[in-house]
Amino acid sequence: MNEFQGKRIVLGVTGGVAAYKAAELARLLVKAGADVDVALTAAGAQFVGAATFQALTGRRVWQALWDERMDSGMAHIDLTRGAAAMLVAPATADFLAKLAHGAADDLLSTLCLARDCPLLVAPAMNRQMWNNPATQRNVVQLRADGVSILGPAHGEQACGEVGDGRMLEAAELLDDLYAFLQPKLLAGKRVLLTAGPTYEALDPVRGLTNSSSGKMGFSLARACVEAGAEVTLVAGPVSLVTPRGVRRINVQSALQMRETVMQALPGQHVFIGVAAVADYRPRRAAEHKIKKDASSLTLELEANPDILAEVATMPDAPFCVGFAAESRDLATYAESKRVAKKLDLVVGNLVQDGLGGNTNAVTLFDAAGAHTLPLADKSEVAHGIVAHIAVLMEKQHGQH
Ligand code: PMT
Repeated sequence: MNEFQGKRIVLGVTGGVAAYKAAELARLLVKAGADVDVALTAAGAQFVGAATFQALTGRRVWQALWDERMDSGMAHIDLTRGAAAMLVAPATADFLAKLAHGAADDLLSTLCLARDCPLLVAPAMNRQMWNNPATQRNVVQLRADGVSILGPAHGEQACGEVGDGRMLEAAELLDDLYAFLQPKLLAGKRVLLTAGPTYEALDPVRGLTNSSSGKMGFSLARACVEAGAEVTLVAGPVSLVTPRGVRRINVQSALQMRETVMQALPGQHVFIGVAAVADYRPRRAAEHKIKKDASSLTLELEANPDILAEVATMPDAPFCVGFAAESRDLATYAESKRVAKKLDLVVGNLVQDGLGGNTNAVTLFDAAGAHTLPLADKSEVAHGIVAHIAVLMEKQHGQH
């Protein structure tokens, strides 16, 4: 994945034990395509040396205010020019205090003051230091100054105490920084999604299900959060990690999924049905394990409710997006689903392209026609779908 391709990030590292996570973050950023310029304070260098960051980023590391390597001799000004963002991780209590007061007595603090790009900080400190009124005052001030605070997390600390103040993990910081940089196309919107398969029990140990992995739905939930939406995800049985910032409700059967969706629906602006909901369920689930005492077994199935169709035909229905998974004649089937279920948008995909794997190729069917998004990683496809939803909602808004 090249989520940060073409982006330059200035990574500030101050003196906390969590500096070791900053090394991992630098590695992840580079892997995601970013150019990473590290600005290391003297205390930061006590924990992780410049050579480590230089090796991980393939670029020189900046430490001194009087560094002469920058042509202009003004590293404190030039380093943030053209950068997509500046992230200080870890940010110690002392560094937050300096930032809040506009102190500029070393390269990193001067860079922060002279920056012309967004600033994010990931606090890392002992719980008492974090909860100290002075630190909390500084954090309030920094937020008011437009600085984004990532974390901190709750948990076991290097000193052995347990509480708030742990720096977020490198992968979490990568996700948060990526989300921060996305256009807020769905700001102020509430989005409800379904994802994954459903499981229709036959007896206590067996059931009917399908091979939906949930990846498409989870990627879309994440893309919606990154676009600024408040997201609720009703997930069938899958073992995926919940995307950061998403409220997840786990369900098993289509009936549970329907009930959960109906409960969560009031106030939602958008509903997206990505789940591969079982069309039928056993008429009766056996209370005890079915025994192999006959040469054949007949299952009686009954239809499950169509959740999407029910939502789309409600008075005051939200903006409704359906998915159509087909094995052939995608355009015909997907377009007929859009019309039959009265949907604002149908995302059509061939099962051979989209089921189970990490990539998908989709065609978006709306009232104006069909728009194809090429085969790509599901997270990239998800961003394409979100962008299209935002355009359609904007158009609808303009018409009312
Ligand atoms: O999970 P992945 O492995 O990443 O795979 C992704 C996917 C292929 C499952 C996904 O991209 C997809 O196409 N999901 C919809 C699959 C499907 O069941 O399509 P359908 O044609 O049966 O249903 C059409 C629409 O109605 C879907 O939005 C579905 O969520 C909804 N539906 C269907 C039946 C039902 N009882 N209730 C519903 O809400």
